[in-house]
Amino acid sequence: MPLCYNNGFFPPAPLMPDDFARRLIDWQHRHGRHNLPWHSRDPYRVWLSEIMLQQTQVATVREYFPRFVAEFPDVAALAAAAQDDVLRLWAGLGYYSRARNLHKAAKQIMTQFDGRFPQSRGEWETLCGVGRSTAAAICAFTLNRREAILDGNVKRVLCRVFARDGDPADKAFEKRLWALAESLLPPDAADMPAYTQGLMDLGATVCKRGRPDCAACPMQARCLAYAQNRTAELPRRKKAAAPVHLPLFWLQLRTPDGRLLLEKRPQSGIWAGMHCLPCFENLSELYRFAAAYGLTPDDLTEHTAIAHRLTHRLLDITPFSAVLPQAPATDSGWQNTQQIRKSALPKPLSSWLAQQNLL
Ligand code: ADE
Repeated sequence: MPLCYNNGFFPPAPLMPDDFARRLIDWQHRHGRHNLPWHSRDPYRVWLSEIMLQQTQVATVREYFPRFVAEFPDVAALAAAAQDDVLRLWAGLGYYSRARNLHKAAKQIMTQFDGRFPQSRGEWETLCGVGRSTAAAICAFTLNRREAILDGNVKRVLCRVFARDGDPADKAFEKRLWALAESLLPPDAADMPAYTQGLMDLGATVCKRGRPDCAACPMQARCLAYAQNRTAELPRRKKAAAPVHLPLFWLQLRTPDGRLLLEKRPQSGIWAGMHCLPCFENLSELYRFAAAYGLTPDDLTEHTAIAHRLTHRLLDITPFSAVLPQAPATDSGWQNTQQIRKSALPKPLSSWLAQQNLL
């Protein structure tokens, strides 16, 4: 009895590195994504887009990218900007540490690189928020460098095509995937932009986590996971840590003329650097804060709780509100609608204020 693959069909022909690159580049030319606003050799645009695309879909980045570039057309403008303005343009994209790191990295480029962009993957990796795969992608797109990328989408493609079965949390497994990714690079450096974009596009549009479109895949005839009927099983999933529930309480204080009290969040922790309503981890702190404005618990209206998911936390936010009987003694922190619209607000806060027609 011969060894039986794929319900009796022949095993796929072995995939040679050149064959992988060639198939991918041809597919990218014909079916990959083209003419995105950041497709250029301008390191500023490519760097910015790669940071935005780290945890955000192409369709969303298409909206945010032009607004960001219009406000900060180059790295000098970004470095000179106020953090509040950078965060405001990022509001809604989530994962705000990306915006804070981007801003810090712009300052690093101005001070440590004399305003010029790094010229190697190693140099790019010294910038805040730029890891190995992002640095490699920037170098491939802007300098045609033969540098391998390995983000989540690419890992999925490689684990399937080459039937790599391992624990995604295992560093040694990850190291083997990097070695595989490096072994597959096209020999001609001029192909690096199409090859790199092709890997990203194949992972995002064809070799999807659920329901991969194997019929449309240029690797189908060579894919070991397909041949072994294991596309649903590979890559192995990370064991997801259960999210920690965090109760939070917001206090919306309104002046008789409709201004709201907003506070800038600390530089670390949830919504770092953004503007938020006074926010507390327990109700007694909120009551104490309200008492300073002469308000008792009976003066506060409790609103429907908001559930908001962060990467590792599930926030249970209970908002309270009250209108002050008279104007506060100082103007500091009290913002009118126009000012609030210009502030970087956490997404659940902007949604909640919009529901109440306060934004
Ligand atoms: N994800 C990360 N970088 C990307 C890019 N350049 N195009 C599409 N998706 C991406």
